[in-house]
Parts: sequence; C-alpha cells; structure tokens
Amino acid sequence: MSTPSYVPWTEKHKPRSIAEIKEIVGEADYIDNFVSWLKNWRPGEKAALLYGPPGVGKTLLVEVVAKEFDYELFQLNASDTRTEGTLRRLVGQSSRTVSLYSSKGKLIFLDEIDGLYGIGEADAVKAIVELIKESRVPIVMAANDPWDPKLRPLREVSVMIEFKRLRSSSIIKHLKKICTKEGIMADERALKIIAELAEGDMRSAVNDLQAVAQGKKRLTVNDVSWLRARNRQYQAFDVLRMLFSAKRCDDARNVINSSLLDYETLMLWIDENLPRQYTDPEELAKAYYYLARADVFLGRMKRRQKWELLKYIIDFMTAGIAMSKIHPYRFTKYGFPQKILLLAKAKDMRAIRESICEKIASKCHLSRKKASTEVMPFLHVMFEASGLAKRDISRWLDLNESMEAFLKKRG
Ligand SMILES: Nc1ncnc2c1ncn2[C@@H]1O[C@H](COP(=O)(O)OP(=O)(O)OP(=O)(O)O)[C@@H](O)[C@H]1O
Ligand SMILES: [Mg+2]
Repeated sequence: MSTPSYVPWTEKHKPRSIAEIKEIVGEADYIDNFVSWLKNWRPGEKAALLYGPPGVGKTLLVEVVAKEFDYELFQLNASDTRTEGTLRRLVGQSSRTVSLYSSKGKLIFLDEIDGLYGIGEADAVKAIVELIKESRVPIVMAANDPWDPKLRPLREVSVMIEFKRLRSSSIIKHLKKICTKEGIMADERALKIIAELAEGDMRSAVNDLQAVAQGKKRLTVNDVSWLRARNRQYQAFDVLRMLFSAKRCDDARNVINSSLLDYETLMLWIDENLPRQYTDPEELAKAYYYLARADVFLGRMKRRQKWELLKYIIDFMTAGIAMSKIHPYRFTKYGFPQKILLLAKAKDMRAIRESICEKIASKCHLSRKKASTEVMPFLHVMFEASGLAKRDISRWLDLNESMEAFLKKRG
C-alpha cells in the first residue's frame, strides 16, 4: 500500500470507534462518562467540558462518539470562536433550530476553548455561557487548562470530564499496531523508548514514530537512540511544526516563548530542516535569506554585546522564516541537526564503553581501568575478526546488542 508520505500517521492510524479506543486505553471512566452525558442530555442541562494534557484523545473521542451515535458534529476551534459575532452566527442557528430534513441529532463542539485569548475573550466566554443555557442541542468543549480564572463562568455550567496522560503500555500497544500496518518489524525496546519520551502524549509518540520509522522495514534501538538525546521539553519537532505552519507573524514569534530551545539551538534545527520543509526554490531562497540575516545579527550581537539586537534575530528566524512560505504547510519528516547528533553519539558511545568495562571488571576481577586498557583492545580484535569465540564471550560477559556492535566497530 503506498500512501503519500505527507499523510500524518496520527490521521492515518487514528482509532475509528469507541471499541478501538478502549482496546488501546482499557476501560476508562472518562469515556463512559462522556457517552452517558451525551445520551442523557436534555435542553437546559449542563454542557460537557473535556480537559487534560495535549494529545490524549479529547478531540478524538468527541469525533468518534459523534460518529458512532450518529450525531451531526458542528466543530469550531478557538480561532473561529474569537469574536462573539462569529460565534453567534455560526452556532446560533444550529443550536436553536431542529432540522426539518434530518433526523440526526446535533452536537456542537467548541474545541481548544482555552485558546480564546485576546480581543473579545470575555465577550466570547459570556456568549458561550448564554449559548449553553439556551441551546436545544448538547454542547461539548475541550481545553488543556480549564482552571484559568477567565473560564470560570464556563466551568459553572459544565460537567467536567478529566483526561489523564496515557500510560506507556497503552502507547506501546498503539505504536505496535501502527508498525504492523506499515510493515515495520519493530524492536519492542525501541517502541518503549518512544513511548517513555512521549510522557503520556499519544500525538507526540505517533509523530516521533513516523519521524524515525517511516520507510523502514526494521526499527531498532539504534534508530531511536538519538531521540533520547533530545530533551523532551524541547519538543523540537513540535516547535518546527508550529513555526513552519504559522500563518501570522505573531504566531511565529510566539513559538520562541513556547519552546525551551535557546535561539541558537533552534537556528541549528531550522537550518537542518529548511530544505525538507520548503521544496520550492523561491520560498527556500527567501527563508535562507532570513536565516542568514539572523546569523549575521547573532554574530554582531555577541561580538559587540549588543543585546538589543536579539529582537531582530528572533524576528528574522521566526516571522521571516514562516512568512517565506508560498505553499500551504504540509507534514514533513524532520531530521535531527547533524552537529547535535554527533555530540550525542559520542556521549552514547562513552556510556556503552563504560558499561562493557564494568562487565569485564566484575567477571575478571579487574579494576575498570585495567579492563579498559588491557582487555578491551583484545575484545575489539576478536569481535572484528570472524570467529565463533565471539558468541561465547558475549554470553559469558552478558553483552547486549549495542555493546556487541560497539566492539565490532573499533571505538
Ligand atoms: N487514546 C488514543 N488512542 C490512539 N490514538 C490516540 C489516542 N489519543 C490520541 N491519539 C492520537 O493522537 C492524535 C491527537 O489526539 P487528539 O487530537 O484527540 O488530542 P487532544 O487531547 O485533543 O489534544 P489537544 O489538547 O492538543 O487538542 C489523534 O489524532 C490520534 O492519532
Ligand atoms: Mg484537541
């Protein structure tokens, strides 16, 4: 089966039914609570507010439940709800009238309600509260952080349903299924690493899997080891996605605030991935122009201690890069900056070497130093040569795959 490579796996392999979600997460109160709220809803009752960390299936559950119980879904996200007028116009009719032509129930879904910031925010909250009170159809909302004081009026008219981070075991189960469907033989330990790094966020796990495994027949621990080098908080792939998909200068600038990457590291990431994201020579040339400007200013700022230049650097590397876009954003498989990768590998190698020395030291009753200087060189020679002794030694010392690989390639 060949699907275009830019289809995100989070879409392609998204669960399509409640049963499929439960197969992954197990029996869960939040699913049952949401379903029974919807089934029992009558005009005048509370709305539902689904809340919890990103990528745990809030939007997904609403979509799947609507489909399964045959509701017509009216979905609006934060940008649509930003002004009271639009909100009323879009939702007003559907909430007050019951269609003459369709027997389907309707469900209004206000997604990412905590993104209602800026102009008209208080008005929007007020409008939604009124809507909830008047509505002839059920209204469900989703948010990451529902405890923002500004959302209090909404909390008062809603049934709160909490989504927790997903368990590692649930994530691994889903990743395994995806690998099977994609024809990838995946080492369980590799999937475990991806799942652990995702910290309960399925979207992030699936995105990482696609980045490291797409197009491969096998996925090993080695393929994912560099993911470890990435500080989860940096979420560099997410940062790049946000940056490259930004439609407005402000959104692009905000990427810097939401990322813990320092701007120099972010520049490495952008540099590495520009040609992957921008394939049209014209947009690529424009983007490189801005990146080069950022680099020149960075040099100047450091040499002359002119910190006030930082805002220009940030503008060039965020707004400049995002506004170079000519074609709509498309999913891209990003790569790890080679420079950072080299450093991380060196660190990994040191760790492997040390653990081999430890094994030798304890088996041969030597100091680690002696193990390293006197035994290790022989092991290298033996592992490089083709001979059967390798297997026995490896078993005796209890070496794992990466240790063997390390010994085969002279470190
Ligand atoms: N329980 C799950 N089982 C399988 N896949 C899941 C699950 N939860 C999320 N996903 C995957 O992650 C993607 C993102 O999930 P979703 O959009 O529902 O997250 P969310 O909780 O709404 O996050 P946000 O707060 O960022 O809006 C889904 O498209 C799906 O591919
Ligand atoms: Mg969502």
